[in-house]
Amino acid sequence: MDAETMVMSLILIMLFFPFCTSLDTLTPDQSIKDGQSLISSKNNFALGFFSPGNSSYRYLGIWFVKVAKQTIVWVANRNDPIIDSSGVLSISRYGNLVLHDSSNRLLWSTNVSVQGTTSSAAQLQDSGNLVLVQGNNKKVIWQSFDHPTDTLLPGMRLGLNRKTGLDRFLTSWKSQDDPGTGDCFCKMNPTGSPQFVLYKGSTLNWRSSPWPWPSSATFSSGFNFDFFNNEDEVSYNYSFDDPSIISRVVVGNSGLLLTLMWNDDDLQWKEFWSAPKFRCDKYRRCGAYGKCGPESGDTVMNFECTCLPGYEPKSWKNWYHRDGSGGCVRKQLGLSMCGNGEGFVKVKRLKGPDSFNAVWMDTSMSSSECEQACLRNCSCTAFVSLNIDGKGTSCLAWYGELFDVWENSSERWDLNVRVDATELATYTKKSNGFLGHKRQLAITIISVMVTLFLVCLIAYICLMKKRKTKGTKGYLEGNELEESSRHPDLLIFDLGCIVAATDNFSPINKLGQGGFGSVFKGQLSNGQEVAIKRLSKSSAQGIEEFKNEVSLIAKLQHRNLVKLFGCCIQGEEKMLIYEYMPNKSLDFLIFDHTRSSLLNWGKRFEIIIGIARGILYLHQDSRLKIIHRDLKTSNVLLDGEMNPKISDFGIARIFNGDQIQDTTTRVVGTYGYMSPEYVIFGKFSTKSDVFSFGVILLEIVSGKKNNSSFQMHDSLTLIGHVWELWREDRVLDIVDPSINDSFVSHEVLRCIQIGLLCVQEDAMDRPTMLAVLLMLSCETTLPSPKQPAFIFRRPINNLGSITGERFYSINDVTITEFEAR
Ligand SMILES: *[C@@H]1O[C@H](CO)[C@@H](O)[C@H](O)[C@H]1NC(C)=O
Ligand SMILES: *[C@@H]1O[C@H](CO)[C@@H](O)[C@H](O)[C@H]1NC(C)=O
Ligand SMILES: *[C@@H]1O[C@H](CO)[C@@H](O)[C@H](O)[C@H]1NC(C)=O
Ligand SMILES: *[C@@H]1O[C@H](CO)[C@@H](O)[C@H](O)[C@H]1NC(C)=O
Ligand SMILES: *[C@@H]1O[C@H](CO)[C@@H](O)[C@H](O)[C@H]1NC(C)=O
Repeated sequence: MDAETMVMSLILIMLFFPFCTSLDTLTPDQSIKDGQSLISSKNNFALGFFSPGNSSYRYLGIWFVKVAKQTIVWVANRNDPIIDSSGVLSISRYGNLVLHDSSNRLLWSTNVSVQGTTSSAAQLQDSGNLVLVQGNNKKVIWQSFDHPTDTLLPGMRLGLNRKTGLDRFLTSWKSQDDPGTGDCFCKMNPTGSPQFVLYKGSTLNWRSSPWPWPSSATFSSGFNFDFFNNEDEVSYNYSFDDPSIISRVVVGNSGLLLTLMWNDDDLQWKEFWSAPKFRCDKYRRCGAYGKCGPESGDTVMNFECTCLPGYEPKSWKNWYHRDGSGGCVRKQLGLSMCGNGEGFVKVKRLKGPDSFNAVWMDTSMSSSECEQACLRNCSCTAFVSLNIDGKGTSCLAWYGELFDVWENSSERWDLNVRVDATELATYTKKSNGFLGHKRQLAITIISVMVTLFLVCLIAYICLMKKRKTKGTKGYLEGNELEESSRHPDLLIFDLGCIVAATDNFSPINKLGQGGFGSVFKGQLSNGQEVAIKRLSKSSAQGIEEFKNEVSLIAKLQHRNLVKLFGCCIQGEEKMLIYEYMPNKSLDFLIFDHTRSSLLNWGKRFEIIIGIARGILYLHQDSRLKIIHRDLKTSNVLLDGEMNPKISDFGIARIFNGDQIQDTTTRVVGTYGYMSPEYVIFGKFSTKSDVFSFGVILLEIVSGKKNNSSFQMHDSLTLIGHVWELWREDRVLDIVDPSINDSFVSHEVLRCIQIGLLCVQEDAMDRPTMLAVLLMLSCETTLPSPKQPAFIFRRPINNLGSITGERFYSINDVTITEFEAR
């Protein structure tokens, strides 16, 4: 070889050198310096040095070649950056891939123990996998796909190798400028039934449905996945039908798990799927035993949480505030669920509960075997019976609390929830197929019915006897059974029984006097306490009409309405019999200096919400659409737990059964609570009730009566007083001093503002009760109130002149003015 050809070959070698390093394989005698790279054979991926975002640090990584925006899919030295461009990747004497900097510091290594002496080589494959192979048979001794950073590529596996213990999971970058190990990660949780979990720090933010997933063949989007769960591994991989689609799954540093597709037209990554995305995605959004789903939630509150059968909200207050995270607890009166006639209620189309506390029973168990197995173990709370890959049904059972249930029509799990015997009875229609329990239940029901029948019979005989001996001629005598069957929901009480219960309407038993009549406390012969309202005799309504009306009203049932048991009719005398409320009425508590301390702010807030819910029910949820027309604090009664219950609803209907127009010549109501359009023009609408509610709300917050005269500003009503303070921006001055140490100022301010919105002069400006409830229960911004009605107190005689010939009584007493018929 002469000198010339040697020079030529040298030049050729030098010319080719860059091409050598840009091949896809690194051999022991080669190295990659900063600026050089390996390119996979079909030009899909490159391995080399890069600087992320605005950082100047250098990292060794793999990126897409055909994606115009630098997109790193894997980083070697994610926590050990090179500060300059002196990084060198090579294969060490022992066959490992090693990364050094200029001072020969080892920054990263594949760190596998290489057996034998045959040399190894590294290759960047077209899938984006960097593999270290050894010997002529190219045995893979290490691969980057086993050590993912934040990205999953098609062909890569996420999950656990049960044999080797290798756990492949994704961990976010610290930031766009720093690929270091961030605090968001997505990994396979193999306990119970395997599922993916997505954490941000120590908080579990989202979880996938538990295995088994429906086969991806059921989706027609060209997206495929496999979920393996066998003795070797529990893992997931995905791909797209179209190999030209460039895609990746990534855990972002904000805590999102995203599947992205590259769009070459606008050079952007497009989201194909992500989580958490929907409000029900949020882990434990509805707490233990709660169920999330817009389809099932309370439509009035537009709230997505409901409780599973047999459970009720742990805190009703939080529930009203639309915070379901506290979850649900067993219903208070629930029976034992251990060998006590309990059974299962099927809840359909769910994302299965968190399966960390679930156990797979033997495979191939029929649904009823599964049910029996769960029933036998008293700590088993639910089960599903699933057909896996058409290989027969298997049984998955939960032990303990049920979390993160999402009702969604695109889900396909039917969860059987353990409930006690009474709950089971209310669901019998839905839970067909549990024959054993049905029979047991039927026996229980029949025996209860027989007992009830006997009791009724004896009671009836006694009643007839008593009547005969007393000689009182009951209006309904002999006729009673027939009457009752015509009004099945209505109890018709006998006058003798009422007279006995109230000790002949003894003044000692009198609870109060209202415009519609007086109220007495009574005790029935069975010991039950009732409140009896003796209606004034001025109603000209016929008996049948009256009974129709009462039975309609008795059907209104809501936890914030006083229950109407029935009525008693005797000639001119008409009485209504209600449940008795031991804690009297709201005015009895809030306007009294000593008793007002019984109600702290939290309780008052609950009361306000309760009243609002009761009125809303009257206005729009009940079939009757009732306008109360006499809402006031003395008509809000309190039960043993201080829950508010509205009384006297529907009374206006009783006196005014045929009244359908929106104006009346007869005004019933109480001064101080009546809206201007009602007082002046006799016009009433739901907005007049809203006005009264606003007054009640302000009274609850301030502990002062709207129409009392003991205030500082003699000429101002409470409304006027609040309005003044509101304009002076010191409205908290009005708050009842006895709740000074318990109130939450932003809640109180919100309430006062809502109160002012309700008492605005123009009915059109006032919100509906639905809007009021929404405003009370979520933190949206509120409109500014306009000037309210009735700012100034009027002398009594002036009132008369405004309203012509009507007569009004002041104080707490309902105005009673009835036209002659
Ligand atoms: C890099 O810096 C520029 C200008 O300071 C800024 O607009 C950009 O958002 C930064 N990029 C990242 C990824 O931080
Ligand atoms: C290499 O692996 C061994 C154990 O497998 C570990 O102790 C050592 O810290 C690792 N070295 C590096 C540089 O990761
Ligand atoms: C997942 O991996 C298996 C074996 O490695 C392969 O047969 C299957 O096609 C892959 N699934 C998808 C959806 O790519
Ligand atoms: C009920 O099942 C749990 C979970 O499998 C188990 O730990 C417990 O021992 C079982 N109890 C009975 C009484 O079988
Ligand atoms: C059900 O889930 C799918 C996504 O899995 C979502 O697109 C849909 O909005 C959900 N439906 C409801 C009613 O939440």
